Amino acid sequence: MINSSTKLVGLLGDPVEHSKSPLMHNAVFDQLGLNYRYLAFQVKAKEVKEALQGIRALGIKGVNVTIPHKEAVIKSLDELSKEAKLIGAVNTIENKQGELIGHNTDGQGFIRALGEGVGFSAQGKKALIIGAGGAAKAVAFQLGLEGVSQLYIANRTFETAVELVKNLEEKLSLSKVEALTLQDKNLVDNLPELDLIVDTTPIGMYPQIDATPVIGDKLLKRTSLVTDLVYNPVETVLLKRAKSLGIKTVSGLGMLIYQGAIAFEIWTGQEAEIGTMRDVILSQLKARD
Ligand SMILES: NC(=O)c1ccc[n+]([C@@H]2O[C@H](COP(=O)([O-])OP(=O)(O)OC[C@H]3O[C@@H](n4cnc5c(N)ncnc54)[C@H](OP(=O)(O)O)[C@@H]3O)[C@@H](O)[C@H]2O)c1
Repeated sequence: MINSSTKLVGLLGDPVEHSKSPLMHNAVFDQLGLNYRYLAFQVKAKEVKEALQGIRALGIKGVNVTIPHKEAVIKSLDELSKEAKLIGAVNTIENKQGELIGHNTDGQGFIRALGEGVGFSAQGKKALIIGAGGAAKAVAFQLGLEGVSQLYIANRTFETAVELVKNLEEKLSLSKVEALTLQDKNLVDNLPELDLIVDTTPIGMYPQIDATPVIGDKLLKRTSLVTDLVYNPVETVLLKRAKSLGIKTVSGLGMLIYQGAIAFEIWTGQEAEIGTMRDVILSQLKARD
C-alpha cells in the first residue's frame, strides 16, 4: 500500500514503456514487504538536468538510467563509481542525502550472471567480444577489471573496435587487448583457444529471431563458453547452435536480472530476490508469445 512513508525509485529514459524494470522491482518490494515503488519516467534529452534536480528536490531514492541518457546524466551528478567512470556511462543513480552518485551495474551484472550461471571467473581467461557499442564497452571494462589475460574486440565498424581498445589500454593495464575485423575467417585464423565469446550485437533479437549470427561453427568450437546479451528470446539461434555443439551457454537474461538486482541492493541495502525477478521477466516474455 502506498502511504506517506513510501519511498520512490524509478527509471529515466526515452522511450520507457517497454521496460520490464517496474514490474521486476515492484514484485520484489512486495515480496520483501519493502515500502518502495518503482515508476518509469519518460524524460526528453533537454530535460535531463531538471529531472536530476527533481530527484534531489523530491528525495527520490534513486533511478535507473536507460537510452539515450546514460552518458548525458554524468555532468549533472556529484560523484561516479569506479565502473561508471571507466565505462563513461551510468545506468543507476543513488541519492545519498541529496548527493547523486552514478553507478554502472551492467558489467557487474554480466559477471555475476556468468558466475552464478556456470561458475565462470574471468581471472586469467581469454575472451572475445563481438560488437563495440554501449553494452560491449561495459562488458569489456568489467572483464578487464576482473583480470582477463587476453581480450579481443571484433566489430562490423572496425574503427569503433579500435577506439574501444585504445580506451581500454589507456584506462586499464591489460597484458593483451586487440581490435579485429568481424569476418569469421579472420577470427578463425587469428584467435587462440578461447574461454569465452560474448555476442553483444542485437542479431537474433525479437522479432528477427532467425537472423544468422556472425559467429560460424568453426569459431564457436574454439571456445568453452558462449553468452549472447540478447534476452528476447531467452535462447537465441547462437545459443541453440552452441548447445548443439556441446558448448556451455549463458543467456542475456542473467545480465538483465543481475544489473537490476545490484541497483536494488544499492537503493535499499537489501538483497534482491533473483528468482522473483526472473519469473516476472519470463512471464512478460511469454505474454508476448
Ligand atoms: N542482457 C542485458 O542486460 C543487456 C544489456 C545491454 C544491452 N543488451 C543488448 O545488447 C545489444 C546491444 O546493445 P548496445 O546498447 O550495445 O547497442 P549499440 O550501442 O547500438 O551497439 C550495437 C553493436 O552491435 C553491432 N551490430 C549491430 N547490428 C549488427 C549487424 N547486423 N551485424 C554486425 N554487427 C552489428 C554494432 O556494430 P557497428 O559499430 O558496426 O554499428 C555495435 O557494435 C542489444 O540487443 C541490447 O538489447 C542486453
